[in-house]
Amino acid sequence: MTIVQKFAFDDREFAGKRVLVTGGTKGAGEAIVRRLSAAGAIVLTTARSATEASSQKLFVQADVSTLAGTETVAAAIMKQLGGIDIIVHSVGGSKSPGGGFAGLTDQLWQDELSLNLLAAVRLDRLLIPGMIEQGAGVIIHISSIQRRLPLHESTIAYAAAKAALSTYSKALSKELGPKGIRVNSVAPGWIHTSASEAMVKRLASHSGSDEATARQGIMDALGGIPIGRPAWPQEVAELVAFLVSDRGSAIHGTEYVIDGGTIPTV
Ligand SMILES: NC(=O)c1ccc[n+]([C@@H]2O[C@H](COP(=O)([O-])OP(=O)(O)OC[C@H]3O[C@@H](n4cnc5c(N)ncnc54)[C@H](OP(=O)(O)O)[C@@H]3O)[C@@H](O)[C@H]2O)c1
Repeated sequence: MTIVQKFAFDDREFAGKRVLVTGGTKGAGEAIVRRLSAAGAIVLTTARSATEASSQKLFVQADVSTLAGTETVAAAIMKQLGGIDIIVHSVGGSKSPGGGFAGLTDQLWQDELSLNLLAAVRLDRLLIPGMIEQGAGVIIHISSIQRRLPLHESTIAYAAAKAALSTYSKALSKELGPKGIRVNSVAPGWIHTSASEAMVKRLASHSGSDEATARQGIMDALGGIPIGRPAWPQEVAELVAFLVSDRGSAIHGTEYVIDGGTIPTV
């Protein structure tokens, strides 16, 4: 597989826009940071560990799966940017082991809910009042097709948390649309990232098979990907860039699936 070519875009489209992208040092989040920055946005990102790339940018080191971590991020935004115009909640993922429901302890359930649902809920609660005051803003929640097509081997809790995130996003849109704030979610299928490769390794190790078998197992569980490959992070970033731009100004309260045709129904 070769990485997709850079798409042509207006490099001033987001000039002056203050943006938060959570989980922006790897995978889809990193691609979103790059894409919006390249179009002129002032992008602040967060992660638990600083990277070489994050040292060049506005970066807040915090664990956003905790209340204190989200408060640190919100305080840094107010101090460094004075407010926010666009929020992309990209942070998320699953670290649960294989083994189905029985392998999921209370702690694992709590961890998956804290990262995949509560990080966004808490940051929104802290940042939306400022958006309401300015009468404008755009929010994207990165969900997953697992909210509609859950896999049972290791990601039951993750899938349930993403379902809650998508439902939360829709409810929020009803409240915020009349106040000038657009809210949408994006549900990717398999994205080719280091996190998805780590999941392949975990499943291979749990089942005592190899990575090719584990990868095929995921493809089979998904029912295949009609375009024949996972999405690249840049392709997800391109969709997000469209949705947060004025080109998407009538798109509100909905979810965009980007899965190469994986979900088998309409
Ligand atoms: N990859 C897929 O196949 C796939 C499919 C469907 C949906 N998604 C969704 O797409 C989004 C991006 O996924 P991805 O696979 O691109 O992610 P990824 O490559 O695993 O990157 C995750 C990012 O979040 C940060 N992060 C993780 N836990 C954190 C925490 N507790 N506090 C703060 N930062 C944290 C990571 O940095 P640190 O580790 O340094 O904290 C990293 O920057 C997620 O919401 C995911 O659920 C992914």
